[in-house]
Amino acid sequence: SETYMFQYKGYNFPKDTVTPEYIDSLEDFEIRDSDVFLVTYLKSGTVWTQQIIILIHEEEGSNAAESEGSNAAESDTNLKRMPWLEYNLEGQDYNMRPSPRLFTSHLTYNLMPKMLKEKKTKVIYVARNPKDAMVSLFHFSKICTYMETAKNIGDLMEKYLSGQVVAGSWFDHVRGWYTHREQLNFLFLTYEEMIQDLRGAVLKMCHFLGKRLQDSTIDRIVEKATFKNMKNDPKANYEFLPEKAILKDNGKFLRKGTVGDWKNTLTVAQSEHFDEVYRQRMKDLPLKFVWD
Ligand code: PPS
Repeated sequence: SETYMFQYKGYNFPKDTVTPEYIDSLEDFEIRDSDVFLVTYLKSGTVWTQQIIILIHEEEGSNAAESEGSNAAESDTNLKRMPWLEYNLEGQDYNMRPSPRLFTSHLTYNLMPKMLKEKKTKVIYVARNPKDAMVSLFHFSKICTYMETAKNIGDLMEKYLSGQVVAGSWFDHVRGWYTHREQLNFLFLTYEEMIQDLRGAVLKMCHFLGKRLQDSTIDRIVEKATFKNMKNDPKANYEFLPEKAILKDNGKFLRKGTVGDWKNTLTVAQSEHFDEVYRQRMKDLPLKFVWD
């Protein structure tokens, strides 16, 4: 796996995607009160939530008579409208982006810009039950060019539980962000609650982002964020990525989109081992997930 990633400050970056100098520079990256950060661990609903946040902002744009204050043209892809802080795939000058800037990140709390605590910058954190996130990663590893293809789920699980995968440990990620929630302007959501009540989750985000939208607008956003519609949405489904840039073998970011797929993948013994590690690592965190 060393050929696929390098460790820096406790995090595993995919090789050749970013330099330590760039990561260091993010510490002093100037953020704004109006910025919005979506933060997730891998395979936890990132592109889904991106779509929702962008749609919420787009609605504002269309109320406010076009472009002023909007990040980019509405025809731009979600990647362009809400780029990853740590992977500047489009080569944008982030300092020049007009407010409100939308960003996405998989980084751990300790690698984020220091100013985050001083500003009113909004952070939406989405967590997914780690068995499903791991199974999603298992499938993704087969189609992703920057990851080692998992041999089998047992092998991946050992690496996953000890943080030897891209982005490091799920436990460290969730803990780092969750324990700082009170120092931040922070909304915590789970993938599972988005599955159970998408409209409710959209409303929570609108409220947090300070957007009052009409019921019919909310309905439209919900509709555009369903798995089926996102899969066919060329701005949102990440099939716009240049061929072989991240995905190979005709791989898709939108795979199955359900809760509890781990049951189809893990043996009982594997699942129990996972539960044991989960209990140890999470015992002092009051987090609840829906597992099936
Ligand atoms: S990444 O690579 O870390 O940015 O991947 P990420 O977007 O976080 O996670 C991918 C999983 O999210 C599922 N997904 C959705 N589920 C439900 N509804 C919608 N609209 C949706 N969009 C993406 C996607 O299918 C991946 O989960 P799995 O379990 O593999 O299907």
